[in-house]
Amino acid sequence: MSSHDQDTDCNTSNNPHFQDVLTQSLHNPARRGLLRGGLGLAGLALLPGCATMVSGLAAAPSALGFPSLDKSLLDNVILPPGYQYTILHATGDALDAALPAYSNQGIESDDWSRRIGDHHDGMDIYYIDANGRYTEKDTGRAVLCVNHESSADAHFMHPNGQTSNGVSGKKFDQFGAWDLGSRPELEVLKEINHHGISVVEIVKSPQGWRIKQDSPLNRRFTPQTPARISGPRAEIDNIRSLMVTRWDTAGAMSRGTLNNCGHGKTPWGTYLGCEENWAFYFQATGAGAGLSAKEVAARKRYGVASAAPAAGVTKAVSQGWHTVSTTDDRFTRWNLAAVGANAERDFRNEANTFGYNFEVDPLSPSSTPAKRVAMGRFAHEAAVCGLPKAGEPLAFYMGCDSRNEYIYKFVSAAVWDPRDVGSGMQAGDKYLSEGKLYVARFDATGQGEWLELNIADPRIANFAAYKFANQGDVLVNPRLAADAVGATKMDRPEWGAVNHRNGEIYFALTNNNAANRTPSKVDAANPRAYMDLDGNKGMGNPNGHIIRFKEADNKSTAKGFAWDIFLFGAEEDAGDANVSGLSAKNAFSSPDGMWFSKATGICWIQTDDNAMTDETNCMMLAAIPGQVGDGGKVTVKNKMVVNGVEQTGTQETFVGAALGDAKLRRFLVAPKGSEVTGITETADGRTLFVNIQHPGELSKPLSTGNTPQSMWPGNQGYGAKGRPRSATIVITRQDGGVIGL
Ligand code: FEO
Ligand code: CA
Ligand code: CA
Ligand code: CA
Repeated sequence: MSSHDQDTDCNTSNNPHFQDVLTQSLHNPARRGLLRGGLGLAGLALLPGCATMVSGLAAAPSALGFPSLDKSLLDNVILPPGYQYTILHATGDALDAALPAYSNQGIESDDWSRRIGDHHDGMDIYYIDANGRYTEKDTGRAVLCVNHESSADAHFMHPNGQTSNGVSGKKFDQFGAWDLGSRPELEVLKEINHHGISVVEIVKSPQGWRIKQDSPLNRRFTPQTPARISGPRAEIDNIRSLMVTRWDTAGAMSRGTLNNCGHGKTPWGTYLGCEENWAFYFQATGAGAGLSAKEVAARKRYGVASAAPAAGVTKAVSQGWHTVSTTDDRFTRWNLAAVGANAERDFRNEANTFGYNFEVDPLSPSSTPAKRVAMGRFAHEAAVCGLPKAGEPLAFYMGCDSRNEYIYKFVSAAVWDPRDVGSGMQAGDKYLSEGKLYVARFDATGQGEWLELNIADPRIANFAAYKFANQGDVLVNPRLAADAVGATKMDRPEWGAVNHRNGEIYFALTNNNAANRTPSKVDAANPRAYMDLDGNKGMGNPNGHIIRFKEADNKSTAKGFAWDIFLFGAEEDAGDANVSGLSAKNAFSSPDGMWFSKATGICWIQTDDNAMTDETNCMMLAAIPGQVGDGGKVTVKNKMVVNGVEQTGTQETFVGAALGDAKLRRFLVAPKGSEVTGITETADGRTLFVNIQHPGELSKPLSTGNTPQSMWPGNQGYGAKGRPRSATIVITRQDGGVIGL
């Protein structure tokens, strides 16, 4: 139950549900043509080339080589027999030997800008060649980039919990009680700086991979690191006009990155830290006056505060970072109220500077990171690049993680040139500044369309809910543009992943609640509405599913795609809701992280769950995927109690071939209160790096003498005991073999 599990639904658009889409398509000649001419699922499976092997990769595996784990409620990382793990780094570890070792008692007096951040999330590995340049070959020396997502566990970083208005011992989360009083400067600086990205040199030793504490490559990107605002040349002035603040009245630069969740790795060797639920760090205290109706509408669509909480409201967003000082703009920037005479005198536009893919060059410690506005502003979960093909544009697939939000695609204007590998931010400027942004509509036919978000589309230019000024405005507010063109509201898009063996794209749709899914409010791509039968742990689609799609003609520039549902999360005893036929050995709930091993072809699935946590902690599973269209059409039976009355219904959808116990196995179960997220491997597939985020998340405030819910990894001998810590673990086989096979 990390902070983002409580995301509010800000999508009040009237975008169509499945029945409306079907009706439209039957009455629209263009759509009828697409239905006839598009690649039907049945036809797709028969087409030659659908499972095209990418040269240089071994064939996809036919069997997994480990026994599936039982569920676990233990406070440790559980792995199959013959596997082992070590800790690479954990929250608070010092990047410089000059800093004291982490106390794990919250007594650090430094501002954390040279320590490993908290809430380890997306990550990737970048090998270094003999000349210090990026290479895809394993040289035994690399940097590891790790996102540090959230501050929901910030109470562990202070001696006695968080302090507000002089009272310590509090446990704020982003939706916790918010006090009008002020917060201490050092606490807030630690909380700000434990966000962002850590870049750490790692080296392979006889004992395995270790961090190099004093490497000049070690770097922290925090919410205070200056970054360039980058976007299409023709729109950059329009974009910058929306970024003007007191800190940079030209709007050309902004400060830092926040709530970095999933990530992306570019084909040229840079890292994209994706800014997810940044909206909840801001408040608007003081006057709300001065904001235009349009600004208020944009903020509402992004869940950003535009007015002070009403009298008597104690549940509000943010952790009160703006309350430290009324003059120091390291803190006043978190207050979005229009308190100055104009945007150059205050921080009313500060939230416009967050919500992007934040590109960094991990091997260039002096490089300036860039916010890639051309890829759109939303709650970026991750950015997965489709298979790059020389001479063709690149496609990046991106989820917007909130309930009922959308899946997007960015297609570069520049075509891929493999000679750009290693060209750092310069290549980023080439590929990520100019291009087209699309949003997905999943149709009831098993086909889908990419809808371009362009102001030339009259539906966007004439959108009644928001009057776009120009294309720059569309890129800063694409949620609204996506509403205008009728994108499909999804069950919270989390990570995407590309199957390297056929180029198909997978997306985890982690869950949705009863307000959004009932038996009468489902569609083909989000087909289930049900309730937990043995624990009262949720209604709607509490266990989530994984959708996948195949671009028409395998082109990055495709306007259409075929889709099916790879897997439905479920408890094994969930009755009709267990559409994928899961057993006690592979039941899972709330898929979030997803990633394909290039070495083995295994599809790894990681969970961030609170709907099955009465039976098991979160987990990671290995799956052997087939391909889009290898299953068939099914009718899902839905049943749930809505307003005290049992409601039933059915929904047709398309599913992948059943995997059974042989092709879907539980490989890892995590410590208490944690989610599993972030995964990468060494090129030989023999070392897996995995992140364990927020063990002990459900711990009560420390002030009342409570024992934390988890003591991991201190309970396994890593670092000082006392409080739980997020960490990167390194998994190997005792016999040195390839992981998972
Ligand atoms: Fe940060 Fe959507 O998980
Ligand atoms: Ca249950
Ligand atoms: Ca059960
Ligand atoms: Ca996530």
